Amino acid sequence: MINDKKVLYSAMQATGVLHIGNYFGALKNWVNLSDEFECFYAVADLHALTIRRDPAELRRSARNVLMMYIAAGLDPEKNCIYYQSSVPAHAELAWIMNCFTYIGELNRMTQFKDKSAKHADNINAGLLTYPVLMACDILLYQADVVPVGIDQKQHLELTRDIAERFNGIYGDVFTIPEAYIGKAGARIMSLADPTKKMSKSDENQNSVVYVLDDKDTVIRKFKRAITDSDSQIIYSEDKPGIMNLIDIYCAATGKAPADVEKEFDGKGYGEFKLAVGETVADALVPVRERYAQLEKDKAYVDGIIKENTEKASYFANKTLRKVQKKVGLPERIK
Ligand code: TRP
Repeated sequence: MINDKKVLYSAMQATGVLHIGNYFGALKNWVNLSDEFECFYAVADLHALTIRRDPAELRRSARNVLMMYIAAGLDPEKNCIYYQSSVPAHAELAWIMNCFTYIGELNRMTQFKDKSAKHADNINAGLLTYPVLMACDILLYQADVVPVGIDQKQHLELTRDIAERFNGIYGDVFTIPEAYIGKAGARIMSLADPTKKMSKSDENQNSVVYVLDDKDTVIRKFKRAITDSDSQIIYSEDKPGIMNLIDIYCAATGKAPADVEKEFDGKGYGEFKLAVGETVADALVPVRERYAQLEKDKAYVDGIIKENTEKASYFANKTLRKVQKKVGLPERIK
């Protein structure tokens, strides 16, 4: 608990510009949580190093994600927004917790298996220990809840296992975090292949809509979205393309799928796609405008980063010192 509130923790990797899957699936839903929770949102730049990155691009990506948090509406006075790498406690705790995590547990992680297959020429130790660092992100802030997508659930389970193991030996050092089940974020699929998640690494750039895409681009991409040869706008697993477009439309408007079916009853795919494109483009306008302002106001953003890094460090160091003491490392002489 901080300020009588439960602690909420989440992060996104610093991988390039964000798309509407990141926005409607996560970011937009984070905005209203700060009344109920004390929220920490990191830009996971250390995690991003598990895949070979161009240094300038990584630096740009990290700043881009951080500014996108603010542009999406997270108030940096109420939400602690910071770079993971700027709080050294993450890396320090990660070493210690590596010693409390079994290789067998890490080998079983499906994301490790997937990423190893995808990057067979660079199966580095960081790729394996990735979930330990993620566990430390969460545990350092004694987080009660963690909003995560389905692909990160297994990592959260492991976080709980590691924390319980440690607490079992040393007493109650860590809060055991739970998955946050709030209003489910939309799971947004590729516009070119609605059986795959929308991904910025997709070769077909028409399949992914970026938050910073301009209106014409957004509309063009939706016009090209893959549907089926039928013409009815029905929310059904048999029609994954239309289902995805309905999900996106619902995410942008707050409507329910049944309302959308009614709204477009008897109308064609062309008209529906145009409506989705225009609605999404309009929903992104305020985010894009705020982002453009932040890009111009370097001093303001730097100030936020500085303040929030200090705040994050304070809480993280408190937990780290406790852990260091528990395991028997010497006290630091100031
Ligand atoms: N691994 C997460 C992802 O790829 C990002 C992440 C890093 C994270 N640290 C975290 C998410 C802590 C939640 C909590 O999406």
